[in-house]
Amino acid sequence: MDRIFSGVQPTGNLHLGNYLGAIRNWVSLQDRFECLFCVVDMHAITTWQEPAALAASTREVAAAMMAAGIDPGRHIIFNQSQVPGHAELAWIFNCVARMGWLNRMTQFKEKAGKNRENASVGLFAYPNLMAADILLYKGTHVPVGEDQKQHLELTRDIAQKFNNDFGVDFFPIVEPLIFGSATRVMSLRDGTAKMSKSDASDYSRINMTDDADAIARKIRKAKTDPHPLPASTDAFDGRPEAANLMGIFAALADTPVEDVCGRFAGQPFSTFKQELADLALATLAPMQDEMRRLMADPSHVDGVLRDGAARARGLAEPVLREVQDIVGFLRP
Ligand code: TRP
Repeated sequence: MDRIFSGVQPTGNLHLGNYLGAIRNWVSLQDRFECLFCVVDMHAITTWQEPAALAASTREVAAAMMAAGIDPGRHIIFNQSQVPGHAELAWIFNCVARMGWLNRMTQFKEKAGKNRENASVGLFAYPNLMAADILLYKGTHVPVGEDQKQHLELTRDIAQKFNNDFGVDFFPIVEPLIFGSATRVMSLRDGTAKMSKSDASDYSRINMTDDADAIARKIRKAKTDPHPLPASTDAFDGRPEAANLMGIFAALADTPVEDVCGRFAGQPFSTFKQELADLALATLAPMQDEMRRLMADPSHVDGVLRDGAARARGLAEPVLREVQDIVGFLRP
């Protein structure tokens, strides 16, 4: 069976964009693939993380995966740092990937900002660790958003160069799995910016831990434009807020955006927002309740992660052993 690997960084509150754009879509992959879903705590520390917050966020992401419907009995949920093979393979990939390749990564440029000299070495080498995540298990398919396509391309380049350099046909060339149009959830304050945990305004995002009041308030205050709602997605041009809110409605209702346009055409934002808030509350509440239940029992969540990590180590071990032989590392 083909194998999926995907990861989420435990850096701050999980929000609606993480859920609708990633985690929720993974649930449907469980029948077709063997899946590893990883809380990438080693990626998280490429920028400074408060240790207690990192641990709490690691549990929160794991709880969200379970609450969304990922079955840790049939598939693997674990945190990256419990499987040392990620770091070991990443080192080898540090020696395969070229400086020039990494210099082109747009995420590094964005995250490092103007002060590149002060960025961590880990932030620069981040894509090599991501390649190691996937290839440590010979993952064949990776569900990612648009923003991670470049990193996946790099993963393919690394696999190819490794195979060429050592004259082997060892690592698979991974395929991205890109989900439909509803995956890009934008800020509630600016329809042109991605919903993000690093946005200074909490009104820009719906956190998975927000209560009903907060969700309703944030939707009520969400930025709009002065026109009635469009009858078709063709009219989304120049109306990023309408596109975003109607896209969120469609994702939550699991219907095409065109249908949402059909239903609300010509109506004012105020009516639509009320319906959107009701829908958001109804759809998110069961999952939020389950997250809360899981987070109240951290030892259970830790047990799931430990068990997942043990199974992941079992899968990684033979791959790593072969890599060591290929490279010429003497091993025990
Ligand atoms: N870089 C990804 C993100 O920020 C997270 C990630 C780490 C990942 N390793 C991965 C995603 C491997 C897919 C596969 O979203």
